[in-house]
Amino acid sequence: MKTVVDQDLCISCGACIDVCPEVYEWNDDDKAHAIVDEVPEGQEDSAKEAAESCPTEAIKVN
Ligand code: F3S
Repeated sequence: MKTVVDQDLCISCGACIDVCPEVYEWNDDDKAHAIVDEVPEGQEDSAKEAAESCPTEAIKVN
């Protein structure tokens, strides 16, 4: 499963990093980004939950 954060949509709310810090982290622009290309096994549900928690739907998972 892959995931990406749309930098134009992220408003830095931080929910994704609270929910799934194994996959999402702050970048130098104080926006979230995915630190892995491929979501690790066992983190898929957490990454999906992070995507659902994002108020601007900036996170894509597929
Ligand atoms: Fe940004 Fe959404 Fe995460 S606004 S910090 S991508 S929850």
